[in-house]
Amino acid sequence: MIKSVKAEIVENKPIAPEFFRMTLKAETLASEGLPGQFVMVKVSPNLEPFLRRPISLHQINREEATVSLLYQVVGKGTRLMSETQKGKVIELLGPLGKGFTWSDSDRVVALVGGGCGTAPLVALAHSLLEDKKEVHVLLGAQTKEKLVCEEDFISMGAKVKVATDDGSYGHHGFVTDLLKNLMHDVALDMVYSCGPLPMTKEVVKLTQEASIPCQVSLEERMGCGIGACIGCVCKVRTKDGAFTYKKVCKDGPVFKGEEVMFDD
Ligand code: FES
Repeated sequence: MIKSVKAEIVENKPIAPEFFRMTLKAETLASEGLPGQFVMVKVSPNLEPFLRRPISLHQINREEATVSLLYQVVGKGTRLMSETQKGKVIELLGPLGKGFTWSDSDRVVALVGGGCGTAPLVALAHSLLEDKKEVHVLLGAQTKEKLVCEEDFISMGAKVKVATDDGSYGHHGFVTDLLKNLMHDVALDMVYSCGPLPMTKEVVKLTQEASIPCQVSLEERMGCGIGACIGCVCKVRTKDGAFTYKKVCKDGPVFKGEEVMFDD
């Protein structure tokens, strides 16, 4: 059942240029939300902007009954979010979609995040480490300034490596270069990925070549977020070798890497 939730903002502050973290008191989301799921945020009490914004669950704190959302200010909706003050109550739908999964046999895992796609990997790393997995985190950013969450992962106990486009921090180049190296050095049982499409494609290609299972969270524009508007379809392979279309908001946003068809 789709749940409409009212949540008080506990904190809403910038953590890097353009990036904000909003923490909400939200018992239902904290108790039911899973890494990889998302919420649709009503960014304004007014009708304008009309559409809600899809934002992934970034941190899930069951003890304190809070969840955090990490978002990048890219337009009117997210700018309004960034201006909303602590103490205000906002409306959300969620938790929505299907999140990341793991099993007992996934003992050594890598999380690959690019830009704002790093956000849901924080909740995922937290759950995986609680489950005693060995967690490697590979982060990509345009510049050192725009790198987010490195400290969150380190303080949890994950092994973190960073790549920046301009070489201002860590490896100068793509985060997928780091994945190639890691796959060479460590036997990975599963790779999880969230970030820009070219990065996601490359992660799927590399893991398929190495026969490592992979799960990717797709970043797609969404209208309703609940499977009603067909505004978020992606093409996926079926078992008989044909293809079908699935809704990123309802069937995803997390898919098996091998089922997603990227190129048309
Ligand atoms: Fe409406 Fe997915 S956003 S169907």
